[in-house]
Amino acid sequence: MPEKTQPRAVFLLGFMGAGKTSVGQALARRLGWRFVDLDQRIEAREGRTIAEIFAGSGETAFRGIETAVLRDLLVELDRGSPMVVALGGGAPAREENVALLASCGVPQVFLDAPFEVVHERCREAAAARPLFREVGRARLLYESRRRHYLKAQFRVDTTSRSVEQTAAWIARALALESTEGG
Ligand code: S3P
Repeated sequence: MPEKTQPRAVFLLGFMGAGKTSVGQALARRLGWRFVDLDQRIEAREGRTIAEIFAGSGETAFRGIETAVLRDLLVELDRGSPMVVALGGGAPAREENVALLASCGVPQVFLDAPFEVVHERCREAAAARPLFREVGRARLLYESRRRHYLKAQFRVDTTSRSVEQTAAWIARALALESTEGG
C-alpha cells in the first residue's frame, strides 16, 4: 500500500484578529514544525513595521512586497522542515497570491470569527494594523474578505475554542502528525 504523505505546510487564513499567529504558534509547537508569520518576514525584509510601510509607501507598495515575500517563502516549501504559515489578512484577497497558493497545493485553513470578536481582539493592537483603525471601514473590509477566506479547504470556528483547542482541531482535521520523537 502506498504510504500516506502528509503536507509539508499549512497556511492559516483569516481576518486581522482571527488568531492566525497564536494558533499558528500553538500548532507548530504541537507538531514540532517551524512557524512562519508572513507579516514578520515582511518587516524583517523591509526593516520597517507594517504600519511604517503603509505610512511611508502606501498599501499598493505593501501588497507588492507581500507577494514577493510569499513567492520567496514558497521556494522554501520543498526544502527544509515543514512549517505552519500565518498569512496576513489581505494576502488571500489578491489574485496573484491566490494563484501562488493554489500552485503549491498546501492545505489552507480559514480561522473564522464574527466581526465583533476580531474587533475586540484587535482593540489594543489597532495602531499596528493600519486597516483596523477605523471600525466602519474594517467591517466593510471584513465582509468583502469573507468570500476569499471561504475558498480555503478547511474552516474552523475560533469563537468556541481556545487557541490550543483550535490548533488541536486543525491537527486532527488535516491528520497531521508530529515530526518530533519516534
Ligand atoms: C492586513 C492584515 C495584517 C497586515 C496588514 C494588512 C490586511 O496582518 O498584513 O496590516 O489587509 O488584512 P494580520 O492579519 O496578521 O493582522
